[in-house]
Amino acid sequence: MSTNWSPQSWRNRTALQQPSWPDPAAVDQTRKILADQPPLVFAGEARDLTERLAAVSRGEAFLLQAGDCAESFESSADSIRDRLKVILQMAVVLTYAGGMPVVKVGRIAGQFAKPRSSDTETQGDVELPSFRGHIVNDIGFSETERRAEPNRLLMAYNRAAATLNLVRAFTRGGFADLSRVHAWNQEYVADSPQGAKYEALANEIDRSLAFMRACGIDLSKESALNQVDFFTSHEALILDYEEALTREDSLTGDWYDCSAHMLWIGERTRHLDGAHMEFLRGVKNPLGCKVGPTATVDDVVGICETLNPDRIDGRITLITRMGSEKIRDTLPPLLEAVKETGQSVVWVTDPMHGNTYTASDGHKTRHFDAIVDEIAGFFESHAQAGTIAGGIHLELTGDAVTECLGGSDDLVDDDLARAYETMCDPRLNGRQALDVAFRVADLLSTRG
Ligand code: PEP
Ligand code: CO
Repeated sequence: MSTNWSPQSWRNRTALQQPSWPDPAAVDQTRKILADQPPLVFAGEARDLTERLAAVSRGEAFLLQAGDCAESFESSADSIRDRLKVILQMAVVLTYAGGMPVVKVGRIAGQFAKPRSSDTETQGDVELPSFRGHIVNDIGFSETERRAEPNRLLMAYNRAAATLNLVRAFTRGGFADLSRVHAWNQEYVADSPQGAKYEALANEIDRSLAFMRACGIDLSKESALNQVDFFTSHEALILDYEEALTREDSLTGDWYDCSAHMLWIGERTRHLDGAHMEFLRGVKNPLGCKVGPTATVDDVVGICETLNPDRIDGRITLITRMGSEKIRDTLPPLLEAVKETGQSVVWVTDPMHGNTYTASDGHKTRHFDAIVDEIAGFFESHAQAGTIAGGIHLELTGDAVTECLGGSDDLVDDDLARAYETMCDPRLNGRQALDVAFRVADLLSTRG
């Protein structure tokens, strides 16, 4: 373990993007209550994920990390279930195309905090603190709603526990049984060209299962067919919360942040000497770090050295978010530099955050074509560098939202207002998400 680390040592560094809590004593109190709560995930599960990610880094598996931009405290069980359905559908498509395991990690059960480019938001002549995610404040534009409320840290814990309970029930309790692949194709997605293509694939899976049964294999005994391993992740942004959920593993004596299996550092908080690096370097969970177009070779090599001095395979996932116009120039030198260090990392593309812009009517959006193009640029860059294109990181929902443009419905600016529901960034809807999976499947089936 690196020297001089403790769950509190981040407090000696500058912590960007933290709320200014009006009542710091209340935060201390809340942290103490949280520290007495049971862990949400277990160290052994985080170690299991690290091993699977090591397989991804060797090109033996593919990572699908996906979910909401900002989870809401109010999202319904149906909406959580439908998001899971889409992720399971995408995973089936990718498994089939790639002929290899797909490691499924949700942006779920804890993705409640948002970094913001400005501390305040102005509407008319009223200036209020920015919305920082439900773990901090509320989205409504009033003084009360925008006040950073420490009690929300507890609400986030409870909400994460309830969501995780649903996720575990869905993925372990029969819902994810491969003989139910058709049931994941909810009506809105099924009524689309991608939905039909998925149905055809599901029929093929049915035939394979029937063949196995006919051969005398008792499929009900094959846990790989009737349940899936699904892991949780979120941006470890609000360090008071993450610190309070950090526990020493009784088996190994290592520290784990038990708020999620995998935690990542955002593009805005990845400074090598910052508080987020300091906190995360000391926990043994698998870690992600966002890498944007301004990242230098020294930044990226520094991230690997700081977070993984012991060079544990599967510990580091670098999530690149360059923008479709920049990726072919900015990514290859970083791939070469990390390759030269001999350190193994998982490279993942986030084709969402580098392609965001404001549409004519003021809605933040992303175009489907730019998203697909960034993914293509990601695969091209890896083919060129001789490195492994390890996975994709997406913001999506199963719902019929109109937040991203394009796709087979060819959504245009005028459609945005119809069903724009996100609290933060624009997400792929269920149809667009499945469409992305088919595009990635094509790229994956020809991956070197
Ligand atoms: C996000 O993943 O929601 C996010 C804020 O991304 P980034 O840190 O890459 O900007
Ligand atoms: Co986002």
